[in-house]
Amino acid sequence: MLENRHILLIVSGGIAAVKVPDLIRRLRERGAMVRCILTKAGEQFVTPMSLAALSGEKVFQDLFSLTDENDMGHINLSREADIILVAPATANIMAKMAYGIADDLATTALLAADKTVMIAPSMNVMMWNHAATQSNLKTLQDRGIEVVGPGAGDLACGEIGDGRMAEVAGLVSALSTFFQTRKESGPLSGCSALVTSGPTHEPIDPVRYIANRSSGKQGHAIAAALARLGAKVTLVTGPTQEPNPSGVTVVAVETAQQMLGACIATKQTDVAVCAAAVSDWRVAQASDAKLKKVSGDPPPALRLKENPDILATLSQAKTNRPRLVVGFAAETENVIKNGTAKRAKKGCDWIVANDVSAGFGADTNTVHVITGQGSDSWPTLSKKAVAELLALQIARHIKQTL
Ligand code: C5P
Repeated sequence: MLENRHILLIVSGGIAAVKVPDLIRRLRERGAMVRCILTKAGEQFVTPMSLAALSGEKVFQDLFSLTDENDMGHINLSREADIILVAPATANIMAKMAYGIADDLATTALLAADKTVMIAPSMNVMMWNHAATQSNLKTLQDRGIEVVGPGAGDLACGEIGDGRMAEVAGLVSALSTFFQTRKESGPLSGCSALVTSGPTHEPIDPVRYIANRSSGKQGHAIAAALARLGAKVTLVTGPTQEPNPSGVTVVAVETAQQMLGACIATKQTDVAVCAAAVSDWRVAQASDAKLKKVSGDPPPALRLKENPDILATLSQAKTNRPRLVVGFAAETENVIKNGTAKRAKKGCDWIVANDVSAGFGADTNTVHVITGQGSDSWPTLSKKAVAELLALQIARHIKQTL
């Protein structure tokens, strides 16, 4: 899996940098080509000479070095790589990445990166658990950055807990898995896709909201399946318990209006799949303060207002309409008939109609895919299998309409 893969290895300043020479050795044994960027702090733990000797490549260190820039340049360092691995990733470099700070060669190359970035955090347990680091971690994960480790155990500082950089074998296997699952020449490579998923939460007051039972399982699985076929995927999701799919840019929202805003901000995509269970209504005037129960008073009347229809908005866009817009129709009866009517009403290309009489949140789905050519009923399948098949059908359609 690693044969002929170009890995840009960014070594920042943590004690775990001492494991990097072994990592380079293992990667090269497997046929990978490794080029290193060493930060100033990283140089305190490992020498450029040892990294150069083991990688067989020049080690890049200085953003303003004329020779480094002439040799390769900070933009090309990421362009020529298949993946960028930051190992060890200190709390400092994670914070800089989260905020887009580019004040040295490593962070500049990361900001200019057009490739998947994987980080192997390594730090003291308190630093790892600090709210700032955890918030930066979430930001990075939401942007599709892959995170390996850290593990728990004895730390170099003498404390015990989370913060140990993943072992060399774990990093080698994470890279191998990445290349195994990624379809560089996948049928959707070069295509972009927008997927909505999950429920929306519509506030009543600061502590209460209107929601529904959508789990986000189907939408998240579709985002993951499209990414595996090579698409550049943005997943706009309401609150769910589902983990962020790997290699997907995740935009977390709460309300239907925020979901629409995030979809519009995603600009032009080739494909849009609206799998979110968007609340049809919101409270016309959500209260800024918690509504109080006053004994003897009648309960408050909630006046509702219609939410924007995201699927219809994307389907009927006058400019930049995705080439393929797919909607869902959760029905409890006359599934195909109602799904067909919904396709016409919304103006989307396909409707995936599913019978939800068994309830939301299940791991399986029974769907009928309704297109302009009629409907195709699929057997009951896991939501993951529905996602894989739908992604393949989308890929076939995109290829035919190119
Ligand atoms: O009208 P209904 O809610 O049954 O339509 C379901 C489809 O429309 C789903 O694809 C859902 O994601 C989408 N939808 C939407 N915005 C809304 C309501 C539904 O995108 N406000």
